[in-house]
Amino acid sequence: MSSSLLFLLLLFVPTLMLEFRYHSNSEIEQYLFQVSAANPDITHLYSIGKSVKGQQLWVLALGLSPRHHTVGVPEFKYVANMHGNEVLGRVLLLQLIGELVRGYRDEEAWSLQLLNSTRIHILPTMNPDGFDEADTHCLFSRGRFNYNGVDLNRGFPDAFAGLRKQQQLNEEQREAEVRAVIGWLKSETFVLSANLHGGAVVASYPYDNSDRGFDLTGAASVTPDDDVFVHLAKVYSYNHASMHRGDLCDDSGPFRDGITNGYHWYPLEGGMQDYNYVWAQCLELTLELSCCKFPQPNELPALWMDNKKALLAYIQQIHLGVKGRVFDGSGSPAQNAVVEVEGRSNMCPFRTNKHGEYYRLLLPGNYTFKVTYAGHDVLTETLSVPYGPDQYSAMKHDFMLRRTASTTVQAPAELNPTCNYTLPPKGGGATSGSAWTGLTVGFGLVTVLQLLID
Ligand SMILES: *[C@@H]1O[C@H](CO)[C@@H](O)[C@H](O)[C@H]1NC(C)=O
Ligand SMILES: *[C@@H]1O[C@H](CO)[C@@H](O)[C@H](O)[C@H]1NC(C)=O
Ligand SMILES: *[C@@H]1O[C@H](CO)[C@@H](O)[C@H](O)[C@H]1NC(C)=O
Ligand SMILES: [Zn+2]
Repeated sequence: MSSSLLFLLLLFVPTLMLEFRYHSNSEIEQYLFQVSAANPDITHLYSIGKSVKGQQLWVLALGLSPRHHTVGVPEFKYVANMHGNEVLGRVLLLQLIGELVRGYRDEEAWSLQLLNSTRIHILPTMNPDGFDEADTHCLFSRGRFNYNGVDLNRGFPDAFAGLRKQQQLNEEQREAEVRAVIGWLKSETFVLSANLHGGAVVASYPYDNSDRGFDLTGAASVTPDDDVFVHLAKVYSYNHASMHRGDLCDDSGPFRDGITNGYHWYPLEGGMQDYNYVWAQCLELTLELSCCKFPQPNELPALWMDNKKALLAYIQQIHLGVKGRVFDGSGSPAQNAVVEVEGRSNMCPFRTNKHGEYYRLLLPGNYTFKVTYAGHDVLTETLSVPYGPDQYSAMKHDFMLRRTASTTVQAPAELNPTCNYTLPPKGGGATSGSAWTGLTVGFGLVTVLQLLID
């Protein structure tokens, strides 16, 4: 076979294969291989690890520089099928890949601009083992868990669960799929993300948990970036064909504007969106996209059309706010500098990456930034922030630090202990155990009640 014929085959097979049906894990793998082989200029296929049963967790990255991070280009991700029996997200993300590639090949402006300004990572299934066990029931939870019977959306370290619990369940003891995602978050500076589920139709935003246990039940557990999260959730619900109505499913809602604070809906411990936000400074939503967890295959084309615009509009929101770099007194990028916005006291302050970069999603307005870095004067600057998504770029602003004149050594900023859950205990584990046990039992009950919802 001539190489040009092979190229043509590779180019066309993927589009042919993308029928509206549920592809098996190996079909998804094949599809991703074909797309990446046919589009090496804008895609890069990699694995973040393996499931408990040894299936690869494949991620397709798309962008004009798909293999490496480019300074100034924010990293986005979509994750689907974390609950193995919530399957619509798998279909939607494969369609989205096809659509982005097709748009680029057809030189459509939206796709060129998106791929030129953003690196998009897509994990179509985070729980392939669960999918293999799933039945097609709309409500039941067979296949929800991973092969060890663990709910992956309860399996992450939880900033509200107390230091004692973080240490009990250190990284090595976590589920393979959870470890893979934690490692993935450490490998790139992700800025914005969504996690696709089913069993309701709503855009849910952090926090899912609270340090008040059940005291606050029925109330919201709000983050310092609540305005941004509400905006992001509404971008999805209003670009979706009907999510914003908020009353689409009989057994959940109604949800005003089709959005909800996670904790307000129901508290949960160890969720992925809180982990992303608190520890990886990545804003993540949980998108519930179908009343039935396993929609009939003949409904898939319409469900894709309902979500297509919202999936693309949400990615574009990564260009909210401000981005740039922090440079030290000698003009080198400053890694681990703390970049804070006045009035937004994040549980774990956002820090610059190894390129000295920071990304801060903010709605238009004036904000005072404070940059802290060892050996340098604290820098305070007020910025007037425009709306970036329409231009496919957040406002760019670099911070230039000045070395501290005095020779007295500054004490490094005290790190909130929950920001580093692998830290050895300082005071010998004096945390009261019983309070946490009660909390955990309580959460267990809620978890059981909620199993049938999302
Ligand atoms: C990509 O973005 C750069 C600016 O960041 C611009 O100069 C270039 O023309 C863009 N290319 C496309 C294809 O949009
Ligand atoms: C932000 O500051 C500018 C001046 O730098 C001012 O003109 C503008 O009205 C301010 N915007 C808001 C929302 O306060
Ligand atoms: C977190 O703790 C580990 C182990 O004690 C340490 O190596 C690491 O530097 C800490 N990270 C931060 C950001 O302090
Ligand atoms: Zn779910």
